[in-house]
Amino acid sequence: MRIGTPLSQSAVKVMLLGCGELGKEVIIALQRLGVEVIGVDRYDNAPGMQVSHRSHVIDMSDAKALRALVEAERPHFIVPEIEAIATDELVRIEADGLATVIPTARATQLTMNREGIRRLAAEELGLPTSAYRFANSLAELQAATVEIGFPCLVKPVMSSSGKGQSLLKSATDVEAAWNYAAAGSRVDHGRVIVEGFVDFEYEITLLTVRSLGEDGDIKTSFCAPVGHLQVKGDYVESWQPQRMNPKALERAQEIARKVTGALGGRGLFGVELFVKGDDVWFSEVSPRPHDTGLVTLMSQYFSEFELHARAILGLPVDVSQREPAASAVIYGGMEEAGIAFDGVAAALAVPRSDLRLFGKPEAFERRRMGVALAAGSDTDVARDRAKLAAGLVQPVVVES
Ligand SMILES: Nc1ncnc2c1ncn2[C@@H]1O[C@H](COP(=O)(O)OP(=O)(O)OP(=O)(O)O)[C@@H](O)[C@H]1O
Ligand SMILES: [Mg+2]
Repeated sequence: MRIGTPLSQSAVKVMLLGCGELGKEVIIALQRLGVEVIGVDRYDNAPGMQVSHRSHVIDMSDAKALRALVEAERPHFIVPEIEAIATDELVRIEADGLATVIPTARATQLTMNREGIRRLAAEELGLPTSAYRFANSLAELQAATVEIGFPCLVKPVMSSSGKGQSLLKSATDVEAAWNYAAAGSRVDHGRVIVEGFVDFEYEITLLTVRSLGEDGDIKTSFCAPVGHLQVKGDYVESWQPQRMNPKALERAQEIARKVTGALGGRGLFGVELFVKGDDVWFSEVSPRPHDTGLVTLMSQYFSEFELHARAILGLPVDVSQREPAASAVIYGGMEEAGIAFDGVAAALAVPRSDLRLFGKPEAFERRRMGVALAAGSDTDVARDRAKLAAGLVQPVVVES
């Protein structure tokens, strides 16, 4: 694939399906390499649209609308940024040779549903995971929780960012968990997974890149492990590197190699793992940059977004770490459109800090509106700085 000139006959064209903060950074990376970028999302002025050559607002879960747009734009690559896409149509688009889906259409299909990826990882690849069962009704869920035991987690098979998830301590929690899952599911499937609670010491995201090697074969590379803290299924802080003992790191890389190998294609993946001592459990995988990997904008020579862009284009990658760093999330804290941010200067006065303000048109209470980044002599110093900087940024209502 030879890179040409955007908006001309020779352009390499990439279509981003999803234009949130992660897509925005991928688009910036592609823009820097002279790629023509088409941003797509379900609402206008999404962060990534603001840095694309052009953009379209469609319902990406509508197979017909997606097909029509791909046929009109004829991108070389389709890069999904979110899970809620008509992935069956992506499979047809790929099979018809219309475009290359990153990493593969099948990977987007398997990972959008917890059942697909869990069965692949545990049953086909034999990777260690939490114990699990699936249930389609309250009665089935009651039986499944008895088999798995308490504590356990209930999650809709189609959901992300912790939506519809509950931690169950005893049988009295089952009915509420069922109702909550039904309300939080992306699709009205009423199917849930019950997972045994893994009493881990810490959890990591192992950013794993499948890129084209010099010999023309796919090469798998691992970034240093990213540690993170989750609150209600949403990440609030991440840091790199997370210190790990050599045996656990080796196991983590082996799991990541196997699962990304089974999903195939080229691109960066975020492999979520739980760790206790030497033991490592596979949790799930994003076939795309991971939110906890925002820290790599500060910690690596090339961020996860730049690595994704390079891998997509068949270019070499360099996953080496530059220095310890951390990220801390800035939430909207209110329901308001067109907000402003106070305290930006104070935040940027924190040593070795930086900010990303995503430019989302509307704030919600728990919507991620920005992130603070900071480097330090170690990850503790970096975390303190990132948290301090994030706390200084105050979303405010603009009086009209
Ligand atoms: N079986 C488990 N045992 C212990 N903790 C768990 C388990 N499953 C999930 N968690 C905790 O809940 C968090 C969110 O779970 P999970 O990643 O499955 O949800 P998600 O909705 O896909 O979230 P995201 O989209 O943000 O990754 C995990 O990062 C972990 O902290
Ligand atoms: Mg997760």
